[in-house]
Amino acid sequence: METSDCIMTRASVRSYKPDDIPEDTVKEILEAAIQAPCAGNIQEWEFVVVRNPGNRKRLAQAAFEQNVVSDAPVVIVVCANIREIGNAYGERGENVYSIQDTAAATQNLMLSAWDKGIGSCWIGSFNEKQVKDILVLPGHVRPLAIIPLGYPASEPSKPARKPLEKTVHNDFY
Ligand SMILES: Cc1cc2nc3c(=O)[nH]c(=O)nc-3n(C[C@H](O)[C@H](O)[C@H](O)COP(=O)(O)O)c2cc1C
Repeated sequence: METSDCIMTRASVRSYKPDDIPEDTVKEILEAAIQAPCAGNIQEWEFVVVRNPGNRKRLAQAAFEQNVVSDAPVVIVVCANIREIGNAYGERGENVYSIQDTAAATQNLMLSAWDKGIGSCWIGSFNEKQVKDILVLPGHVRPLAIIPLGYPASEPSKPARKPLEKTVHNDFY
């Protein structure tokens, strides 16, 4: 798919066919994720690939019963190693770069999935402590996004964007 087509047509997909996603395809999507820019090339992102139905169900519960998580055949939990980025950049690394780096990786991941005909939805509303417990994450690894992946059950509709005139501002020159 053309890059611009991929960007313009991607939309959140919240219902999936039961079809599994091949391991190699998931790997290609993760390879795309780690091509994202990141502060100082520290690459503090960590990805947990969840296929186990019991764990997907537990993650859905931790995401306040968002069944999109348990319905997807593959779920990727995007995390940041806060200690690693903190060691490099202190407080700004821990609180700003960790969020930005993993967000950039997440966007790459979702676009790469869409390019392969795989739908996804960024799930940000979840109980962090519960997700850490389910995945047995060490204290310095923070889960920041849950991304269910699956072949779309139907064509997603993309919500409208505000017009550029409302969100783009020019400086005085
Ligand atoms: C940081 C973040 C958190 C989000 N959390 C959720 C969520 O918990 N549940 C959900 O259904 N969608 C969630 N979304 C998806 C947005 O609702 C969606 O991207 C937005 O409405 C625009 O729609 P589109 O993705 O189809 O373009 C989240 C998106 C982002 C970027």
